Amino acid sequence: MIGRLNHVALAVPDLDQAVATYREILGARVDAPCDLPEFGVTVVFVRLPNTNVELLHPLGERSPLIRFLQRHPSGGMHHVCYEVADIRAAVERLRVQGLEVLDPEPRIGAHGQPVVFLHPKGMGGVLVELEQASHDS
Ligand code: CO
Repeated sequence: MIGRLNHVALAVPDLDQAVATYREILGARVDAPCDLPEFGVTVVFVRLPNTNVELLHPLGERSPLIRFLQRHPSGGMHHVCYEVADIRAAVERLRVQGLEVLDPEPRIGAHGQPVVFLHPKGMGGVLVELEQASHDS
């Protein structure tokens, strides 16, 4: 059911510094920052040949990332994102199998595509995002 690894998301305490590290030191192609108020995050995509890295930084006082960064002050891996062809079919199948889908309805994510998050407890302790693959990627 799952397809490509769309991205690995890293929570970072200093977004400018993380961007500089990936762009200047690691020599990666790095997109401009994008605010996602609904998710309480600012994201920056690092474009790699075979997948992407999503740098995540808190946006707003109620950002879920604030608590994450309190627990991981240096930053850390936040989630992985797999592509699926049909997000609603995927959610239905996962719920039938007893996995907890955190979002009652898919939300529009950083790429303008519908996404949901799966509870880490059924996923080996890792927060997992599913994103409906776009037809033009
Ligand atoms: Co993500």
